[in-house]
Amino acid sequence: MRLAVFASGQGTNLEAIAARLPVSLVFSDRAQARALTILESVPSRTFKPMDFTSREDYEEALAALVEEFAIDIVALAGYMRVVGRPLLQALPGRIVNIHPSLLPAFPGRDAITQAFEAKVAETGVTIHYVDEGIDTGPIIAQEKVPMQDSLDALENAIHSVEHRLYPEVLAQIMEENT
Ligand code: GRF
Repeated sequence: MRLAVFASGQGTNLEAIAARLPVSLVFSDRAQARALTILESVPSRTFKPMDFTSREDYEEALAALVEEFAIDIVALAGYMRVVGRPLLQALPGRIVNIHPSLLPAFPGRDAITQAFEAKVAETGVTIHYVDEGIDTGPIIAQEKVPMQDSLDALENAIHSVEHRLYPEVLAQIMEENT
C-alpha cells in the first residue's frame, strides 16, 4: 500500500511514521511547514486553498494528487484543515487522523491545552478514520495519558504516545489491506 502523509506544521508524527513505514508522498497546505523538509528522498507537494478559486477546486486538486501518486492511504498528521468530499470520495475509508485527546472529548484546535485547563484526571490520544466533521469519524485506537503538572509535560507525554501509536496503527492497517 502506498502511504501519503498530510501535515501543516512540525511533522514530528511524520518523522515517527517514516521511521517505521515507507512514505510515498508528503503534502502540506503550508509551504513553510517543517514537515516538508524532513524526508529528503520522498516527493513532497504544497499548495493551499488560496491558490484556487474555490475550496472545492483545492479539494479536487488533492484528489488528483493522490491519484497521480497512486496513494492508497492518507495519514493526517497535524493537517489543520477539514477534509472535503472529493478527497473522501477518492479514498473512502482510507484517510486516518491523529488527535491529541480522548475523543469525543476536546475536539478541534489546542486539544492538549483544553484538557489541561479543564483539569481532567486523564486525557490521551485518538486515531480515527476521517469523515466530513472535525475530529469525528470511527475510532480505531485510543490510549490514555495521565494529567501532568505542567502543560509542557502533558504535551511531551501526549506526543511520545502519538509517536509510538500512530506508526503502529498505520502499520496494522496497511498489513490488513495488503
Ligand atoms: C499532533 O499533536 C497531532 O495529534 C495533532 O497535531 C499535532 C501535530 O504535531 N493533530 P506534528 O506536526 O506531527 O509534530
